[in-house]
This record gives sequence, structure tokens and C-alpha cells, in this order.
Amino acid sequence: VAAKLGKAFTGEVQAAFQKFLAVVGPAALTRCLIVYPWTQRYFGNFGNLYNAAAIMGNPMVAKHGTTILHGLDRGVKNMDDLKTTYAELSVLHSEKLHVDPDNFKLLSDCLTIVVAAQLGKAFTAEVQAAFQKFLAVVVSSLGRQYH
Ligand code: HEM
Repeated sequence: VAAKLGKAFTGEVQAAFQKFLAVVGPAALTRCLIVYPWTQRYFGNFGNLYNAAAIMGNPMVAKHGTTILHGLDRGVKNMDDLKTTYAELSVLHSEKLHVDPDNFKLLSDCLTIVVAAQLGKAFTAEVQAAFQKFLAVVVSSLGRQYH
């Protein structure tokens, strides 16, 4: 996968990942819960998700956003074996959490938007393509247990 994604990914996206680990995850999960409110149903134990302000100020959302980004970072570092890297998480999300796999795509779109906003001009078409390809493989690996 790494070779297919090319230099744009291994260079700029990987660097951006390290830099924004603590920012991107919380912002992307927050955005996902606000713009796709049905995704809130999986986070019933996160307390107040009553409106956008509550979601933005919810420390459990922020913490879990960072957890998700650490999960993605594992993929960035194991680019050539994403299926194995995400095997356990796929089982967790399907069999234990019963997360509808369509939601992986929704979250990955939020991740792209947030990364774009963080990178600004550095979010070139090439970087966008590389990042979205990477996320598509992650989404497919996470969804593997469902097939
Ligand atoms: C837990 C990653 C998408 C719902 C987790 C954990 C990770 C993770 C690393 C912690 C697992 C552990 O504790 O061992 C990811 C990644 C995603 C993704 C990389 C996609 C890029 C989603 C989506 C939803 C979701 C779209 C629901 C809409 C959950 C829930 C938990 C969880 C409910 C348990 C939270 C808790 O109670 O602590 N995820 N996830 N995940 N994920 Fe995901």
C-alpha cells in the first residue's frame, strides 16, 4: 500500500499525522457526531451529547478522538499490512460494538475535512488523493469482519 500511495503520503501526511495527532482525532470525531447525529447512538456512555456545544466540550469525545487517531497512526506505521493491523479492531467494532460499517466512511470523510483545514495550502490534490486512498483501505480493513 505504501508504494501505491507514494511520496505524498509518506512525506506530508505522515508528518501531519505526528503534528496533529492530538487535534485531528478529537475534531474529526466531534464533527462526525454533530453532522451525522445518528453516530451518537454508539456513545451512550459518553454523557452529554445534547447539542453541538455539548459535543464540542465533552472530554470523553476528545479523549476518544485521540484514541481513534492513535489507531490510525498504527495503520500509517504498518502501511503494508493494514488487514492484519486492523483485524482485532474489526472484530471489536462488529461483534462487540455492533457499529454499522457505513459509519467508518462517514468518520473518514470528517477526518479528511479536518486534515484539509489543518494543512491549508499543503493539502494539495496529491496529498488529498493519498490520504483518501489510505483511509479507504483502513475502512475496508475495519469492515473486513462484516463480510
Ligand atoms: C473504540 C478506532 C471508527 C465507535 C475504538 C478504539 C479504537 C478505535 C482504537 C479503542 C479500542 C480499544 O479500546 O481497544 C477506530 C478507527 C475508526 C473507528 C481507526 C475509523 C477510522 C468508529 C466509528 C464508530 C466507532 C465510525 C461509531 C460511529 C467506537 C466505540 C468504541 C470504539 C463506541 C468504544 C468506545 C468506548 O466506550 O471507550 N475505536 N474507530 N468507531 N469505537 Fe472506533
